[in-house]
Amino acid sequence: MMERNSWGARARKVGGAVLLPALVAWTQPAFSAGDAPGAAVFSAECGECHSLKEGRNKKGPTLFGTLGRKAGTQPGFEFSEELRRTGWTWNQETLRSYLSQPTKKANPGTKMKYEGLADPKSLEALIAYLTAPK
Ligand code: HEC
Repeated sequence: MMERNSWGARARKVGGAVLLPALVAWTQPAFSAGDAPGAAVFSAECGECHSLKEGRNKKGPTLFGTLGRKAGTQPGFEFSEELRRTGWTWNQETLRSYLSQPTKKANPGTKMKYEGLADPKSLEALIAYLTAPK
């Protein structure tokens, strides 16, 4: 199962404190706006599965060019039928809804095994980062 590599399982047990510096160091070169508060949130919460580089899929699709795109239409990634069926276009509102509780609320059948970003401050910082003009 994709989300169950040993690295991911350990990460969840030890929490963010140990993992964050490693992830930040690992993903930093991908970002131009590395100082934005949302960049650290992205590294810690999303970097395991997503990159922002064109064509660079991990466990999840690259988020390059996701803003303004229809859900599940990024070329080169096999999305779930459930996500594609939503008909969403990615903008601040749809991101907020999906990322706050992907599986419980927004899209129960999604392949994104992520429990959601509950903290409103982190969520808003992340959304600002992801939707900032490039
Ligand atoms: C455990 C891995 C994992 C984590 C952590 C994760 N994602 Fe995902 N994400 C996925 C997968 C897999 C998909 C494809 C979902 C589907 O097809 O249903 C996805 C899909 C998406 C999509 C839809 C992309 C598109 O082109 O339609 C967005 C946006 C997204 N993730 C953003 C995020 C953000 C932002 C975070 C951090 C808050 C995050 N994800 C955390 C694995 C993950």
